[in-house]
Amino acid sequence: MTIDAQEMLARYIQDGYYKSPQPVTRERFQALLSEIAELFDPIDIRLGIRHPNLGKPKELHAHNECNHFADGIAWYCVDDGGASGSFYISPMAPVEARLDEEDLAHLEHAHVTLLRQRAPHTTVARWERGRPILLFPFGPCSFDERVPGRREAIERFYRVVRELTRANRLRGPDMALRTGEFILVDDRRYAHGRDALPPNTTRVLHRAYMHLRDRERWLRRTVDERPFGAQFPRAAGGGAP
Ligand SMILES: [Fe+2]
Repeated sequence: MTIDAQEMLARYIQDGYYKSPQPVTRERFQALLSEIAELFDPIDIRLGIRHPNLGKPKELHAHNECNHFADGIAWYCVDDGGASGSFYISPMAPVEARLDEEDLAHLEHAHVTLLRQRAPHTTVARWERGRPILLFPFGPCSFDERVPGRREAIERFYRVVRELTRANRLRGPDMALRTGEFILVDDRRYAHGRDALPPNTTRVLHRAYMHLRDRERWLRRTVDERPFGAQFPRAAGGGAP
């Protein structure tokens, strides 16, 4: 089976992610991706060195990381280290469905430091085309403690994300990232994480962020039609179900 770049893009836009159906060479991965996106900040993530969050084989809670400065993330599995099932993604739509207007107003004032040139700071919720875009960062956020209800709303948000991203993980044989396979994830529609890996794992993941060439088409789906799918309907009136 050959992977077609335009079909790959169509699936990514429709489903919010695309998982390769078979292993490909790294060159093929780069060629396919360059047809649909500009890639930036590429890195080979080898565990056990340097990076404060990624460099250890411990569990990584579900999180988003780039929806404020990129359109999505691409991972190519250079070596699965024998633990291909540890990676997972989890939809953000059920989280959005649990938030009301008041929650969103508080989250809009929850500040996140990103240490990235392109976007040094952002907020947990921000508005785009009249829709809330949510970021669930690795670490804590900062906010004005004096505003009534703010701490409670932010703590509730962190709790709800942990609970729902744990309950709604997409995984299994189709999602397992084996050596030579790759996955593209819309960071606005899915959080991602991984279970703990063996301490001496040889796993290497290549990661890059994407700017889609056909950005307008993607935005129509990823922003205008949020949240997605009858599986995770937004509660009536936007309140808790
Ligand atoms: Fe991440």
